[in-house]
Amino acid sequence: MNPSPFSPLDHQKDIYLNGFSGKLPIVPVDWRLLEEKAKASMSQAAYAYIAGGAGLESTLSSNRSDFESIRIVPRMLRDTSQRDMSISLLGQRYPSPLLLSPVGVLEMVHPEADVAVGRAAAALGVPYIFSNQASRPMEEVAAAMGNGKRWFQLYWSKSNELVASFVQRAEKIGCGAIVVTLDTTHLGWRTRDLSLAYLPFLEGKGIAQYTSDTVFQKLMDAATSPPRPSVTWELLTGLIRMVNAYPGKGFFRKLKSGRPMKAVRTFTEIYSNPALSWKDLSFLRQHTKLPIVLKGILHPDDAAQAIDHGIDGIIISNHGGRQVDGSISTIAALPGIAQRIGGKIPILLDGGVRGGADMFKAMALGASAVCIGRPYVYGLSIAGEAGVNEVLRNLLTEFYLTMGLAGVHAISEITPDSLAR
Ligand code: FNR
Ligand code: LAC
Repeated sequence: MNPSPFSPLDHQKDIYLNGFSGKLPIVPVDWRLLEEKAKASMSQAAYAYIAGGAGLESTLSSNRSDFESIRIVPRMLRDTSQRDMSISLLGQRYPSPLLLSPVGVLEMVHPEADVAVGRAAAALGVPYIFSNQASRPMEEVAAAMGNGKRWFQLYWSKSNELVASFVQRAEKIGCGAIVVTLDTTHLGWRTRDLSLAYLPFLEGKGIAQYTSDTVFQKLMDAATSPPRPSVTWELLTGLIRMVNAYPGKGFFRKLKSGRPMKAVRTFTEIYSNPALSWKDLSFLRQHTKLPIVLKGILHPDDAAQAIDHGIDGIIISNHGGRQVDGSISTIAALPGIAQRIGGKIPILLDGGVRGGADMFKAMALGASAVCIGRPYVYGLSIAGEAGVNEVLRNLLTEFYLTMGLAGVHAISEITPDSLAR
């Protein structure tokens, strides 16, 4: 049985048939060409922000190279005409072991931003983890997704009242889990962004969850106006973008209200909370009945602590190589963590997953599911909702083919035995 809402084999066939009548795929199938085409479709600053990693980007590249050092050993003559990609995760059934990682500030690459991604994910039954730094409020994206599965990713800010409000909103829109991202108590040393001296949040981008929140609006009331810097052309254009990014109509009305500037100032003051520690998690437990998933776990001891604290799942992640340069790659961290967790809670993994074979390798080493970030952002940049849809179908089709060609029928059959020792 293949309960996926699309047929992978038909997708592959359609690509060839379309080619027969002169039509090429709307987004490049090859990851490298996808990245290249996406780069050409966006501003220099957007590409730097999305593609970039921390420091020398050694973690960014080892997220890939460590996947490549793992090899699948296919098995033959196993009648794989029937295959099932579906999984159970945190009490729900999903058609495939793929989720979309939270990615902030999508308005940098497409005006429909999170809404387009939500629609594409919903059409394929792929759960979408809404970013805390989204460009559209979670309610709007949820509405566009219909019954599509969604989770919410939380950045634990300096205001617990705001944390509680975000979590309540996530419950109300039917999120299946709260994902707390732990690895970004500060932004990492992001070489490409620093070289351009550009941070999208300062233009009021990627703060839609905040400006749509009543608790945040109250916090803004208390914000003082920043001292007036000397006026330059760059400052003016930045200010215009900031006012435009703020919700509501009427440029001059918004400018006069001072709210857009207050929003950015309040956001920068409360965004990161380096004081966070394990004991704070009980606050979250008290404020939600949803499963809690910790994102950014890399050490087996932290994985064990998560279990001790009653956490429901973890995402092995190094934030796509954007935080600690030189940090272990996620696929290298997986076996040790899987061994320590011993199947007690599900392990998800993101970072460097670029093809169905990578999905297969992660599942073989003990992941319950994998997530992707940049690939769907590139699809969005090139062709909006249809581009995201195509990227996801390519990935799922390659995974489905890899399963069959490696001789497995179901996710449970993908084990370390499927890999070269
Ligand atoms: C991210 N990531 C991220 N993570 C998170 O928890 N909240 C967020 O708002 C964001 N924002 C964000 C923006 C951009 C532009 C990128 C590239 C990444 C990290 C993301 O969820 C995920 O961990 C990585 O992107 C996974 O790696 P790949 O698939 O991009 O290699
Ligand atoms: C980033 C933040 C938004 O990685 O998570 O840029």
